[in-house]
Amino acid sequence: MIPHLLSVDDLKEDFLIDLWDEALKNKGKNNKNLKNKIITNLFYEPSTRTSSSFYSAMIRSGGTVIPINNVKFSSVTKGESLEDTIRTMACMCDGIVLRHDQIGAAKKASAVSSVPIINAGDGNGEHPTQTILDGFTIYNHFNKSINNLKITMVGDLKNGRTVKSLVKLLNRFSGNSFCFVSPEELKFNEKLPINSYETADINEVLNGTNVLYVTRVQKERGSIYDYELSMEQLNSLPKDAIVMHPFPRVTEIPVSFDSDPRAKYFDQIKFGIWCRQILLEKVLLK
Ligand code: NCD
Repeated sequence: MIPHLLSVDDLKEDFLIDLWDEALKNKGKNNKNLKNKIITNLFYEPSTRTSSSFYSAMIRSGGTVIPINNVKFSSVTKGESLEDTIRTMACMCDGIVLRHDQIGAAKKASAVSSVPIINAGDGNGEHPTQTILDGFTIYNHFNKSINNLKITMVGDLKNGRTVKSLVKLLNRFSGNSFCFVSPEELKFNEKLPINSYETADINEVLNGTNVLYVTRVQKERGSIYDYELSMEQLNSLPKDAIVMHPFPRVTEIPVSFDSDPRAKYFDQIKFGIWCRQILLEKVLLK
């Protein structure tokens, strides 16, 4: 069976720990492990980090990328279906990294693909490879542990796919508790983990937070709300806490916080390449 990666549900804990340990060992170094392998980056939604990260990971491992980063300039504009585009690209490469604006698109693609599909975000569905690097960031910071943490998620929890996927993952490890901070209209819509607390006031939960996961308001999915965490709020986090953000950042975190050692969002981007190199090996060399 083709090892598609459609959801965090496809990632077993031991697979992840192994991937993270290998990523820690390789640290993004160049190699030839994916020599003669080709992936297609097929992106129906904007992307800076995810598409470039897959590109960089593939090149660093000696492989090649067919970049379809703007489907406006592909036959999609002529009316080609997702299925036919997938069937076509599957003839030319060893794996397809797909970002799409419709939830379930990756699953639909996997049904007709003869090569592995990696879901790089499907509407307000999931974003499992972001979760791999988010999980790695936490694992790396807390001495290879991902248990017994208080995780505070803030922002557009209704439409943020990175939050949905990360909560799924963290909920599988023991002792974690969750605070969901958002206005009523952008509340987390999924089944809440057992140890959850919901509030609209972040000041209630900053104290004792180990991981603050900040997200953008997804205006393209109809969300309306603007917020900005203050330096005072961020500074009140415990000294060994970490602040994460999948990016892009709009107004949520002041740039002046970037030099604080707790700010991990640029590390996340770097770790994304480390993790995707190993993920691509695991998917393409199977
Ligand atoms: C996120 C996404 O596309 O879901 N970005 C990313 O992949 N790093 C977050 C977002 O768009 O807000």
